[in-house]
Amino acid sequence: MSDSEQNVVEAVGLKKVFCDFWRRPKAIAVDDIDFTIRQGEVIGLLGPNGSGKSTTVKMLLGLLRPSGGNLKVFNRDPADVRIKSRIGYLPEETYLYKYLTATETLDFFGALFNMPSKERQRRTTQLLDMVGLNSVGERPVGEFSKGMARRVGLAQALINDPDLVVLDEPTSGLDPIGCNEVKKLIRVLAERGKTVILCSHLLADVEDVCDNIYVMYGGKIRVSGELDNLLTVEDKTRIVAPKLSEEVIGRVMEILNEATPGGGVSVDHPTMNLETFFMDVVRKARDESAATSGATTGEIASYLSGEDKEQRSKQMLENLARVEPEEPAESTPAPPPEPEPDHDKLAGLVKPEPESAADEEAAKISQEERDQRNKQLERLLGGDDQ
Ligand SMILES: Nc1ncnc2c1ncn2[C@@H]1O[C@H](COP(=O)(O)OP(=O)(O)OP(=O)(O)O)[C@@H](O)[C@H]1O
Ligand SMILES: [Mg+2]
Repeated sequence: MSDSEQNVVEAVGLKKVFCDFWRRPKAIAVDDIDFTIRQGEVIGLLGPNGSGKSTTVKMLLGLLRPSGGNLKVFNRDPADVRIKSRIGYLPEETYLYKYLTATETLDFFGALFNMPSKERQRRTTQLLDMVGLNSVGERPVGEFSKGMARRVGLAQALINDPDLVVLDEPTSGLDPIGCNEVKKLIRVLAERGKTVILCSHLLADVEDVCDNIYVMYGGKIRVSGELDNLLTVEDKTRIVAPKLSEEVIGRVMEILNEATPGGGVSVDHPTMNLETFFMDVVRKARDESAATSGATTGEIASYLSGEDKEQRSKQMLENLARVEPEEPAESTPAPPPEPEPDHDKLAGLVKPEPESAADEEAAKISQEERDQRNKQLERLLGGDDQ
């Protein structure tokens, strides 16, 4: 893969100036910034209020037109509709149709991507389970609490299994368990090669999941780089060991004090952070099956973790194998034993569908062959999805 193919976002001299009615500059929100985001990276966009984070992501999404500079997303203009199906976006405010239920909301967004109804149903069920809302899926989202609405918003951003996920303050309003699940989800997405841009004020969350960070101030990128490199304190050394006896500590201290006449040596027990402590308490309560009427925890949707692709192919193979034999004669009392599937032949039939236009081109399957295959699959799997 060439460099430009791996670059999901390329910005050069990107600028956004908001003007008033008379076209006089009102606010320089983004001021001549350059950055490149590569496929599979988890990026943290940090900065104080009003530093330009949301404006930057809105330009990436084609929601705001840059005032200057050059911006490419998947090698195209961000306003190009062809890239929309590859992007998932959770805005900083959750905008939902309040009279739709959570299930209807996800179904609606799935339909915007022309997803067949069976697939929409499957993903909706998995997503509601993942965000802990399967028991309230039939309630209108207008009745939801802030955190519950945020969870629906997050599910909506993932309904199309996007390659680029842009999350603007995803954990705002979420309880610590919800925050933890979002972090887990981001890691799973990254493992699958998805690119994630995370805007957040919660530095601990960013630290847990991001590979690279950009710190913005006054519309400019002040610092950027790999998180590990940026956070390493080069002029200090830390030694971690299992619990040591007083006597061993005494001997070690003697050596250390000798090696560092200027002082600065100290020994203590490490502490866990509050989040780890909190999660431990909740995990124990759950293990004891303590009752709760609040949000629950769910598994990552299997279509997002990539687990169910293989399973579905297998199931398809089995289904196809079942319809291959001829109908048994009417007079035959017992059905013939099910034949072994012809795996080579069937694997050709159920070759996974390309996920994007680029893949489609790469696959070089003629339209005629594809139509034939689809018809055969539809017939064999029992008809229409819509
Ligand atoms: N639609 C708009 N019209 C005028 N000014 C705007 C608009 N949107 C953003 N701005 C201004 O642009 C600057 C950057 O705003 P932006 O929303 O990008 O900040 P942010 O880093 O996302 O802040 P926060 O952490 O509060 O979400 C601010 O000065 C803001 O007032
Ligand atoms: Mg913002």
